[in-house]
Amino acid sequence: MPVSIVIGSQWGDEGKGKIVDLLSPQVDIVARYQGGANAGHTIVWENQEGGDDEFVLHLVPSGIFHERVTCVIGNGVVLDPKAVLDEIEKIKSLGIDVEGRLKISHNAHLIMPYHKAIEAAQEEERAAASDDDAIGTTGRGIGPAYTDKSARTGIRVVDLLEEEVLRQKLRRSLEEKNAILRDIYDVEALDVDRIVDEYVEFDQRIDDYVTDTSKYLCNSLDQDARVLAEGAQGSLLDLDFGSYPYVTSSHPTAGGCCTGLGVPPTEIDRVLGIAKAYCTRVGNGPFPTELETEAGERLRQKGGEFGATTGRPRRCGWLDLVALRYTSMVNGFNELAVTKLDILSGMDPLKVCTQYRYDGTTTRRFPSEAQTLNRVEPIYKTLPGWEQDISDVQHIQDLPSEARDYLAFIEEYLDVDIGLVSNGPRRSQIITDVQHATAA
Ligand code: IMP
Repeated sequence: MPVSIVIGSQWGDEGKGKIVDLLSPQVDIVARYQGGANAGHTIVWENQEGGDDEFVLHLVPSGIFHERVTCVIGNGVVLDPKAVLDEIEKIKSLGIDVEGRLKISHNAHLIMPYHKAIEAAQEEERAAASDDDAIGTTGRGIGPAYTDKSARTGIRVVDLLEEEVLRQKLRRSLEEKNAILRDIYDVEALDVDRIVDEYVEFDQRIDDYVTDTSKYLCNSLDQDARVLAEGAQGSLLDLDFGSYPYVTSSHPTAGGCCTGLGVPPTEIDRVLGIAKAYCTRVGNGPFPTELETEAGERLRQKGGEFGATTGRPRRCGWLDLVALRYTSMVNGFNELAVTKLDILSGMDPLKVCTQYRYDGTTTRRFPSEAQTLNRVEPIYKTLPGWEQDISDVQHIQDLPSEARDYLAFIEEYLDVDIGLVSNGPRRSQIITDVQHATAA
């Protein structure tokens, strides 16, 4: 198992953090390949008093809680130095050793204060035009940072090493950004020296973690290390394959792993898709199976569907197999983990979307362009639900037959095996003996 990828198969928030944490003891390295502090990967564990402790990771990979795992923030991530340093401090305060266990790519692009300022101004202007025009971003500067990366005007971690290089690049960049902020958005301009001082201080604190992570990963793979690549967000938020323009600015899909880490595709032998047992979405954009009803509210409340990064209520809806089949195709999932199955207890009957109706015809094709996706009508298959609480179930045979049928229906529709079922936020709430989830 040289490189395994864990990928969100919907619109993010599928519970990837828990699955990465669970798989971490089987690997040597956990590496994040895209996104930035827009992600919120939640890990929950039982404390000594029998209660739950929770930690939300935004940038540091979810393997950090396993002592012998090294964590990598790859070149494909856009790094907010303040956010990563705050996160490191919080992790250390739990008594966890981070020194020597966290490596940050020298080629990762930095989130700068003007990225957040421009994003806020852009979103405000889009919202003023119409509520639907705003993307509903997380406000972490992600889009503008990737814009600069593509425009070849970005500032990278390696640029922090030499103050004069940083000042020069920043001065050039700020000329343009300040003009945009002042003249287009009527927002206060930013000061070069203040940013340089702030970022030079970051450099002193971040320096020990910075390295050529692609070289580190490839050398480690040569020595038979096992790497788990951790995707952030979800496939339907992918810049190319998601519901554009209501997407994030990076590539959560499998291809993003190679470019975001600098590892060859020939090293990848497992692509594990994470799918919530229903669907959620934060921010704007089409969502064919959205439930703007009591059932949707029930999913939100029972599932705790509020953003781990922004606290925003997530939109909730039935499982969309048309969308899942599409992301399975794009990513080549060879296995699926289904999360939050316990949240469906007490909902009877259940519905899953198996086709879309569009322009008078039915289709199993997922149109990723927002204008078409906005107009499709979901066609549902109704499946029997179950009443029992399943959050203590440890073995697949102990699930109610309706829950096993639900899983079997997903497997059959997608032609992908389900390898794991998560039935609660705790590490212990996981069913690993799923194999083929056909009803007994
Ligand atoms: P951005 O990534 O902040 O630019 O936001 C773009 C879109 O992706 C918005 O709809 C966000 O709500 C969504 N998004 C970004 N990160 C996450 C995530 O980790 N989970 C779920 N949605 C996300």
